[in-house]
Parts: sequence; C-alpha cells; structure tokens
Amino acid sequence: MLGKKISYQVNGNEIQIQFEKGEASLRVLTAEIMNVFLPKETKDHRSKAIEGEKAQSVSFTVKEEGEALCITTEKLIAKVYDDFFVDFYKPDGTLLCADDRTGRVFTEQISERFIEFLKAEGHEVPDASDFHYPVEVVKKMDGDEKFYGLGDKTGFLNKRDYEYENWNSDIPQAHTEGYRALYKSIPFLITLKKTGVYGLFFDNTYRSYINLGKENEGYFYYGADAGNLDYYMIAGEKMTDVVSGYTYLTGRTPLPQLWTLGYHQSRWGYESAEQIRGIAEKYRELQIPCDTIHFDIDYMDGYRVFTWNEKDFGKPGEIIAEIAEKGFKTVCIIDPGVKLDEGYEKYDEGIANDYFAKTPEGEVYVNAVWPGDAVYPDFGKPAVRNWWGENQKYLTDLGVRGTWNDMNEPASFRGELPKDVMFTDEDRPLPHAGMHNIYGHLMSKATYEGLKKADGKRPFVITRACYAGTQKYSTVWTGDNQSLWSHLQMAVPQLCNLGMSGFAFAGTDVGGFGADCTPELLCRWVQVGAFSPLFRNHSSKGSTYQEPWQFDEKTIAINRKFISLRYQLLPYFYDLFYQCEKTGLPVIRPLVLHYENDPETWNLNGEFLVGENLLVAPVVEQGMTKKLVYLPEGTWYDFETKKPYAGKQYYMVEAPIDTCPMFVKEGSIIPTYEPMQYVGEKPLDVLKLMVFPGTGRYEHYQDNGTDFAYQNGEYNLYEFIHEEGCDAEEIEIKMLHEGYTRYKKIQVL
Ligand code: NOJ
Repeated sequence: MLGKKISYQVNGNEIQIQFEKGEASLRVLTAEIMNVFLPKETKDHRSKAIEGEKAQSVSFTVKEEGEALCITTEKLIAKVYDDFFVDFYKPDGTLLCADDRTGRVFTEQISERFIEFLKAEGHEVPDASDFHYPVEVVKKMDGDEKFYGLGDKTGFLNKRDYEYENWNSDIPQAHTEGYRALYKSIPFLITLKKTGVYGLFFDNTYRSYINLGKENEGYFYYGADAGNLDYYMIAGEKMTDVVSGYTYLTGRTPLPQLWTLGYHQSRWGYESAEQIRGIAEKYRELQIPCDTIHFDIDYMDGYRVFTWNEKDFGKPGEIIAEIAEKGFKTVCIIDPGVKLDEGYEKYDEGIANDYFAKTPEGEVYVNAVWPGDAVYPDFGKPAVRNWWGENQKYLTDLGVRGTWNDMNEPASFRGELPKDVMFTDEDRPLPHAGMHNIYGHLMSKATYEGLKKADGKRPFVITRACYAGTQKYSTVWTGDNQSLWSHLQMAVPQLCNLGMSGFAFAGTDVGGFGADCTPELLCRWVQVGAFSPLFRNHSSKGSTYQEPWQFDEKTIAINRKFISLRYQLLPYFYDLFYQCEKTGLPVIRPLVLHYENDPETWNLNGEFLVGENLLVAPVVEQGMTKKLVYLPEGTWYDFETKKPYAGKQYYMVEAPIDTCPMFVKEGSIIPTYEPMQYVGEKPLDVLKLMVFPGTGRYEHYQDNGTDFAYQNGEYNLYEFIHEEGCDAEEIEIKMLHEGYTRYKKIQVL
C-alpha cells in the first residue's frame, strides 16, 4: 500500500504521482489507452511486447476533484486515489472498471482445500494474506462480466469463473480444461459487460495468475510472482476497437506470403527423402492441393540444429529442390536446444562467444532435449539473436522457405530449468523466472529478422511458445493436441481467443497430433482447418498416419473438397491479412466480436466468422449430421445452396459428413480464384466475385504475394460496390490504389 497521495507532476504524456510510501505513474498513450505503472523491479518498463514509442500527442487534462486525481481524455477518464487505487470511466461518467478496495476474500471452500493440503504436508495453517502475490491487482465485478482473450488457454470461449496461469508449458497429455497453462503467455483480457467493453494488458513476464471470478464473484484479479505492476487499460466503443487498440500497442500480424495460406502437410516423422518424395507425389497424383511439406527433427544430423542428415535425406537441399519442381515449399523445424558436442560448430561457436545460459555459479547450464545433453542459447542477448538470425541462412541456402520453432517454452527432458538459471535481458542479468515466458518470443524475433535478411521475403515463422507481441514475428500453432473430438471442439474457441489476443495467423494440428485419427474425425477437422489461418495436417510418431489417403475414398474426396475450397478462397483470406496489418482484427473471429450486444453470441463455441461476412458452423461431434446454427441479425445466405435465412434465430441445418454449414451475410462480395494445386501453379490473373443480394462494398487487395515491394506502393486496391436490387453483374469497380499489374479479368459469378 502506497498510502496517501502527496503530489504529482505532468511530464509529457506521463503523470508521476508521489504517495507517502512511494511513487507510481499513469501514462496517457492515446485517447483510449492508458498505462498504470508501479515500479517494483525496474524503473523503466523494459517491455518485450511493446516496441517503439506508442504514446501519441494526445490532449488530456489533469485535475484534482475531491479525493481523486482525474486524468481525462476525449474517450477515457482515470481517477487515481490514495494507495494508488485507479478507477476508469467512460466520458459520459459510466464506471468501466474499478479497483477492489475490500481485499481478496478467500471463500471457505478455497481456504479449506488449501488448509487441508497444507496440513497434510505438515505446514502451519497460513493467514489469508499469504495467498497474495508480490504483484497483484484486484478489480471489482458488476456481475455480468464475460471474459475473452488470454491466448491459447484451454476450455471455452468465455473465461468467466475460471482461473489460468501464464507459464509457457509443454503439455504432452491431452489438453483438458484442467490445465491452467499451455504453451503461450498472452496476459491480455477483454471484459464485456452491459455498461461497456475494455481490455487489460498485464505486461509482466514472470509466472502470473488470472482468476476471473472463480475465487469470488465480486472481483477478478491478476497476480505475478515478481516484476513490476505494469498494465494497460484499453478502452473503446466496441470490442473491435479494443482489439485494434491492443494490437496497436503490441503490434499486428504482418502480411504473409500468399503460399503460406495454402495447405501444409507434416508428420513427425517423415524419416527420409524417399518418404517426403512419396508424400509430394501422392498429393499431385490425387489432385489434392498442397503447398508445403514440413520437415520435422529427423532431417537433422543427430538432432543438431542447422545441420543435415545426409544418410537418410541425401545431399543437403537436393530433396527440397526436387519437390520444389512440383510446387512444394519446404519448412524445417528448429529447436533451441543446441547439442552439447565438442567439435560441432554451433556448440563451439556458442561456447567461444558466451552465448549459452548459465548456472548462478557461472557454468554453462545443461539439460536434455532431442539430441541428449543440450545447452540453451541466451536469446536475451542481442548478439545471440543476431547469431541465431544469421544461422537461418544455412536453411534458406538449402531452399527452405520457412522456419518452424519448436520446444521453446523452453522444453527440457530432465525437469524444468531451475528459476535461477541465468539469462540476459539486453543489458542486465535476468533469471529463468523472468525469461521463461519470453524465451519463445525472443527466439521468434531472431528467426524473423534472420530470415528477412537472408532472403528478403516476408518471413514465415511458426512458433509453439510465445508472449504477447510475438504476432509481429511469427505464426503459431496450438502444440500437441490429440486426435480427440474434444480437441476439435476446443480448436474453435482456442483459435478465436488467439485471434482476439493479436494472433491472427494461428492453427491447430489438423487431425490431431497425438493418438489415432479416424476417417470421420479427419473429415470434420479439415472442415475447421480449411478456415483456420494456418492450415496444417500434422501427426506424431507412433500414431496412425493421417494424410488423406491413409483412409477411404470418401475421406480423400472430402479432404480434396475442403482443401480446394480453401484455395478458391485464398484472395478472401489474403484480404483479411491485409486488413489485419492495418486494424489488428483477426481472420477468424467469434461472433461476439461483431455482435457483442447480442447475448446469444456471448458463449457461442461451435461457430465462428471468417472476416465479417462468412459464418462457419462446423460439426465437431462424432456421428452428428445436423448442426444447430445461430445466425445473428440480418439476412444470411447458405454458401452452397444460396438459400436465404433470416437472422437472430437458431436453425437446425443438415450437415452430412461432406458438408460444413457456411453462411454469407447479405450484401457480401467474396473474391475467389480458380481452383489450383498450389500457389504458383498458374498466374492469378482472373478474379471471380461471389456477390450476394443486398447493398455491399468490398475492398480487395492484390500484390506479388512474396516480398516487401507493397510497402513501396506496389499493390492494387480495388473497391467493388453493389447496390440493392441491381443484378449481380452490375458491380461498380474503382481503383483506390494502382501500383501492380491488374487482373486480366474480373468476373461476377
Ligand atoms: C513437439 C512438437 O509440438 C511437435 O509438433 C513435433 O512434431 C515434435 N516436438 C517433434 O519435433
């Protein structure tokens, strides 16, 4: 507790406030974003999520009103009280979010449970204050709060009444709701309630805890083991404003290369060039479109990173060039653990340059991963990131088109790294306790920058572990799911929440990684995968092979149908990524993001939007051939039959195994390409527009799909306008920007 307020000064965007027992600050970044900062570990923020200056020149006033110091912008009011309690209001005076002053109350149930455990272990029964975290903020609840975001957490869309932890965790067991943490730490929460919507981003990399009304229905809290109390209030009129505000702060998913939006095939492990060749041939033979094959750890020599297993994969790069002739792009896995092996170049370089994490006594820290004894690069050092980045050239020189970063929680087979293993935070030592949650983030940043330098293209990075803001550098997948119907069900809320947490380019292992996939499960999963931004079938050693042809003809046909549909919709997906770079809005979205005032959307776990206008309601239960679909306001058209449906109603629609219910909103214009087997197979010079009845306007983006020339104006931006009552063919086309070769033909379907 900081005691009474004594004085304050305004320095630029910052209001520094002196209390009896310390100093804290509030910073106005934009009219809608304010930062609350209580330095406990360092004087400055040292944020890993936020890069560059985000404070804009914004007009605000600072006034003392009674007990409160009021900081007012056009969009948000903060009132700061004694003990650094901070309440936020909307400009009309509605209370948005208030600090709880009563202190956390431990319900009987919780204290009894803890007390029993503690007694059983022979501890003394603690006082309730022992359950407090060194960094803690407790916010009052009105009662009707719904919570979204938080990245890849398990369970359903709305996180109300649950508790979670941020501690990047490699979980090989089935990801059930019981797990409070998976691979990613994204401490960003969106609160929706009757009186408003707001986001809170808690920027602290230590292990942290979020309890959303589970402990007590009167409040929710955030706590962390160490670090500063450093959080951002992100206000907005609508939920979309909050997502835009958060991604303004932590960065947006950049426009990817077009081929990365195609279909990817992977398995741990394709163990030889021969096997990879077979996969490539089979895709082309069966005419199932596919762009990318992923090489898991077996392509390396003894799991040494940045090496090649010549025994099984032939001359370095040869198989990559061979499949490239058929249009396949190669993505290779890279783990952070460097094999402890004198004479191995990467190990020797790291030792010579002091690149690896150390024990508190100053010895290089050793644990084990795939290669056996392994050491951990200290990605907190700029020189290490640079070295790791330079090493990407080894891969790009072989023809590799993207890097898949795995095991970067970091995973370790001989128990978790002790909290005091020493890493670096740029220019100061940082123990593992503070580095853990940003290890994958820093590895991704190094990889992104290295790839960009190596081939000048838009880097394609996939990472398993990450922190808030990693979306600037990498796409993500949700790690080791299993071939379980419950995991297919969870894929939808998980991808929706990742999207609302800034990660627009995300996917699940289609078919499930662990356990054995069934033909029916694969058919239903490919229907979700076809709309997931990252669309990759991946499975584990020891499980049933799950390329489409491992099953019957029907399964092959259904996979072909949905993968082909994805390729037809490529321009629509690409447009969404173009928009995302500007607004931060994700590609797949829960309905609540656009219909937050419609209570039916608050807990919808079984359907989602792709962009604003395409609604997908996949079947995610075994044996089901019907689907209960909720359509929000407006008229919606069945994507296949074009049958109209009035919104704000539920419908039971037919969904046999080869059908995924999809609906398009009135007035929509959806751009499509001719079917293709892979990106680059043919010139993309004809655009076909699906036009749905109603008035509509659509912006379509086109560029070379590979490099950064678009940032110098080498792109086209088309505007398509369609008026209610006109024939579908009567589309007005305007060029909003012209800097690239135009389509030869734009056809209306
Ligand atoms: C764990 C990853 O999550 C999985 O996707 C990969 O196949 C294995 N490591 C082997 O590299």
